[in-house]
Parts: sequence; structure tokens; C-alpha cells
Amino acid sequence: MTFLRVIGFSVLLLLGYMGFAHMLPQVVPDTSEPVEVSTEGLDMDGFIALGESIFKGKGTCTLCHNGMGRAPDTLEMDMAATYPARLADPRYKGVAAGKEGPKAIEEYIHESMVAPSAYVVEGFGKKGTNDTESPMPTVNMPPIELNDVEMNAVTAFLQDLAGLEPTVPLPSADDAPVAEEPAAGGGEPAPLLTSGEAIVDEYGCASCHDLGGSGADLGPSLYGIGKRMTRAEVIESIIDPNAVIAEGYEADFMPADFGESLRGSELLVLTDYLMALPDAAPAADDSKEEPLATTGLEAIDKFGCAGCHDLDGSEADIGPKLNGIGKRMTADEVKTAIIDPNAIIADGFEADMMPDDFADQMDDSELSLIVDYLMNLPE
Ligand code: HEC
Ligand code: HEC
Ligand code: HEC
Repeated sequence: MTFLRVIGFSVLLLLGYMGFAHMLPQVVPDTSEPVEVSTEGLDMDGFIALGESIFKGKGTCTLCHNGMGRAPDTLEMDMAATYPARLADPRYKGVAAGKEGPKAIEEYIHESMVAPSAYVVEGFGKKGTNDTESPMPTVNMPPIELNDVEMNAVTAFLQDLAGLEPTVPLPSADDAPVAEEPAAGGGEPAPLLTSGEAIVDEYGCASCHDLGGSGADLGPSLYGIGKRMTRAEVIESIIDPNAVIAEGYEADFMPADFGESLRGSELLVLTDYLMALPDAAPAADDSKEEPLATTGLEAIDKFGCAGCHDLDGSEADIGPKLNGIGKRMTADEVKTAIIDPNAIIADGFEADMMPDDFADQMDDSELSLIVDYLMNLPE
């Protein structure tokens, strides 16, 4: 601990000197925008490698899935034995319940990503929920927001790691491109990030803190932090999080290596950004919101429905198939099923699986577009 404090102090000194450089006009272009790459023609080995880079990079999975006890240490554990044990656990009631084999494990992994609370590994649930609610973010929703191809790549990687032949399909020519993070390593230094949002994005802060509308609550809210902490205290809590533990939270939870991975100027820009945050999270309909969807399919994409329902070719089966729903339900019933999913539970499915906050997230126009689209879905 003393050792860490000494490092922390030296970094503070160093930052004092760097303060000047920070005040020079920024000439470095912000190259932090992800680059879209097509996955066409990738073979399974390439797809597995893509999955590994997403797991360790863009997906921010290793923020929690590491040896610190925040989540199962998926990369180090003997998952060849663990996955079958999960499926056989009497507490497991998810989509692959009662099944075994590589395909069932694919379904289990996919479900862990799109509906983390469907099954919570013992001891890892949110505090006070008795392992019924998972603290893991839904990965096809903001802030992580992986698309189907990216989730398949991660699944291929995890299956391969467990010694299984991946069962996910390879991406086809008309699949969406994958957003590749700006090149890191490979000789070229990663581009310097020059906006607070880009840094929060790159380092995954919003997976644990409520930032950019993520609503995450694994760490304390950082809104209004400029009023309760000094700039130096904020810097210390980023580079040496265990020096002072925020009340009501545990030590060793926030990654302790940001001091190494953040560049000096990035740390300063990030700190300025945090210090200037308003006292409370902006209202949901603020300007940083995603634009309104203008077609039913766009809206379905925006709200991640295809992660659980077989829509737009996703073949997901965590929720019922919606094809032909117009023949068995009225438009009003479909609307209720979306905004108040627990009012009536579809036969053969469980309550509390479908998110119940779409009413708050959707504009009325988006809700009508979705209802129209579903009512007209052919059988
Ligand atoms: C903020 C922390 C956090 C992040 C980020 C996170 N997870 Fe998790 N994950 C957890 C926790 C905690 C559990 C255990 C509780 C549960 O079963 O939901 C878990 C469980 C899982 C499981 C089931 C593991 C098992 O042992 O059965 C899989 C698979 C998984 N996560 C994959 C991912 C992938 C892939 C990503 C990145 C795209 C990711 N997670 C990102 C916290 C996280
Ligand atoms: C894996 C989850 C996790 C991630 C990722 C994470 N934090 Fe934290 N953070 C926490 C937890 C838990 C605490 C409270 C415990 C503590 O003080 O160490 C915390 C505390 C803090 C505090 C002190 C807040 C206070 O009220 O005392 C700041 C500032 C902070 N984090 C900033 C960041 C920034 C900036 C990033 C991204 C570079 C980040 N965190 C990433 C979990 C996380
Ligand atoms: C995390 C998984 C999940 C997501 C995301 C999800 N659903 Fe569902 N949905 C379910 C499950 C499970 C059920 C069945 C249980 C129930 O009725 O609540 C269901 C039920 C439904 C029903 C009723 C179907 C019937 O046959 O009664 C409709 C309609 C529906 N969802 C539409 C949507 C739409 C539209 C979206 C996106 C805005 C969406 N769902 C997102 C899991 C999900």
C-alpha cells in the first residue's frame, strides 16, 4: 500500500510538470472514432482471433472477467468442465436448460451476454438480490453495444478456449461490418485520445459508473464529483483506487492499472471532464441520445429486440417467435407486451426476462413503428 502511495505521489508530481503541455492548443486530431471493417471471408481461426480481441478490447469483458474476483475468471478457469456444470445446475432455467453439448454451450454463452440475469453464477449477483440479478451489463445494449457478428466472434473464442469446435456461423457478406477499435500495439502507438467521452469509452468507465446514460451502479455516481472532491483527489482515485475507498463500496473492485494504461494527457483530459460533470445525470431525452428510429426495423435494432427474439434473421430464442403475432394478438396487446412485459407472460416463458423499461426509453413514434412492424410480420 505504501508502495502504491509513493507511485501515486510521483505521478502527481510528474503531472504537475505536464500541466504546461496540457495547456498548449491541441494539434493531435481525435482519431478515436472506431474504424468499420468488413468480416467477409474470415475463416474460423480468424473469427476466434477477432473474438479474443473483442473480449479483451472493445467488449471490455476483461474489466470484470479477470483474476480479481469480480466475475468468473473465464480466461483462466477450466471452462471445459465449468460450462457443462452450469447447464446441469438445478438453478439454471435458461434457454439451454436440460441440454448438453457444444450447441447448448453456445446458447448458454449467448444468453449470458444478452440476458445476464437469466442465470447468475452463485456468489456473483448484485448485493442484496440473493443471486437473482447479475451486475453484468447487457452487451448488445449501450455502452458496450456489440452487434450479432461481434457476439458470435466472442462465443467462438470462448468455445475454442473451452476446447470445443465453435458452433456459431461464420459472418456472411451481408452481415454488418465490425467496428474495430483504433489500432493498438503492432509498433504504432495507439492514437492519443483528446476528449473525455472518448477516454471514458475506451477505458470502459461507463460499465461500472453511470456515465453517458449507461445507468451502471457498480461504482459510485461521478456526477457532481467536482463539488465533493478536489482535482488531485479525483486523479488519485483513478490511478490508485484503493488508496481511499468510496463509502459503501469495496476495495479491489475498480481496476488499479489505469495509471499505467492511461497516457498522462489523457488522465488530465479525463479528470477535467469528470470535474465538469453536472450534479446529476442529464434527463434521458438529452441531446446525446441516439437519433429517433424512423422505421420499425431500425427501432428493433436500436432497442436490441433481436438479441432475444427471432427478428431480422437473428434466430434468437430467449423470447417467443413474433412472426404471425398479428394473427394471435391485437395491436393493443402487442403494445402492452412491449411496455409492460410482466402484465401477461407468454406461454412457456418466464417473467422478468424481457426488460421492463422500454416505455421510458422509447419515443411514442418508435413504439408505434415497432407495433406496426410486428403486426405485419408474416408467419
Ligand atoms: C461490469 C462487469 C462485467 C463485464 C464488463 C462483463 N461481465 Fe460477464 N459476468 C459478470 C459477472 C459478475 C458474471 C457472473 C454473474 C452472472 O452469471 O451473470 C458474469 C458472467 C458471464 C458469463 C457466464 C460465466 C460463467 O462462468 O458461467 C459469461 C459467458 C460472460 N459473463 C461473458 C461476458 C462477455 C463476453 C463480456 C464482454 C462482452 C462480459 N461478460 C462483460 C460481470 C461482467
Ligand atoms: C470494474 C468496475 C469499475 C471500472 C471499470 C471503473 N471504476 Fe471507478 N470505481 C469503481 C468502484 C467499485 C469504486 C468505489 C470503490 C473505490 O473507491 O475504489 C470506484 C471509484 C471511482 C472514483 C472515486 C469516486 C468517489 O466517489 O470516491 C472515481 C473518480 C472513479 N472511480 C473513476 C473511474 C474512471 C475515470 C474510470 C475509467 C477510466 C473508472 N472509474 C472505471 C468501479 C469501477
Ligand atoms: C432480454 C431478452 C428480451 C428482449 C431484449 C426483448 N424481449 Fe420481448 N420477450 C422476451 C421474453 C422472455 C418474452 C416472454 C415472456 C413475457 O411475455 O414477458 C417476451 C415477450 C414479448 C412479446 C409477447 C409475445 C407473446 O407471444 O406473447 C412481445 C410482443 C415482445 N416480447 C416484443 C419485444 C420487442 C418489440 C422488443 C424490443 C423493443 C423485445 N421484445 C425485447 C424477451 C426479450
